[in-house]
Amino acid sequence: MLNAREIVWKPAYEVGDAVIDAQHRELLGIANSLIVATAEPIEAYLKLHEQVRSHFAHEEALMRRTGYPGQLHHESEHARLVDLLTSVRGNFSGGAWGFESVRSFFQSWLIDHILSYDAPMIRYVRSASAEGDAARRAA
Ligand SMILES: [Fe+2]
Ligand SMILES: [Fe+2]
Repeated sequence: MLNAREIVWKPAYEVGDAVIDAQHRELLGIANSLIVATAEPIEAYLKLHEQVRSHFAHEEALMRRTGYPGQLHHESEHARLVDLLTSVRGNFSGGAWGFESVRSFFQSWLIDHILSYDAPMIRYVRSASAEGDAARRAA
């Protein structure tokens, strides 16, 4: 049963890479468990941290493999997001944050990053691999 506070996944958030889309949905699921938590959600928080790190490592390896020109910028945004997630931890204890502020934090922290950074990166990766396929066919 969906809690009204949860951030709902939309098809518009899909970047077109099955692995990365699945990872994003999983991150959103964990973020939602933080959003609706009524006690300090320390386990969900630690799980989110761990999944975020492995997700970012996956994207960074993909950028390296394909020579994505926006890699440095994207990686520094990942580092900023990890710092933000770290800094937000204390705000959950004692219910110091209302649900709306936690929700809007994840909305911008996760969804804005997907739309502004991940989607253009995947578009590049897909067109680069399509060009590679065409070049191989022409050779
Ligand atoms: Fe991502
Ligand atoms: Fe990213």
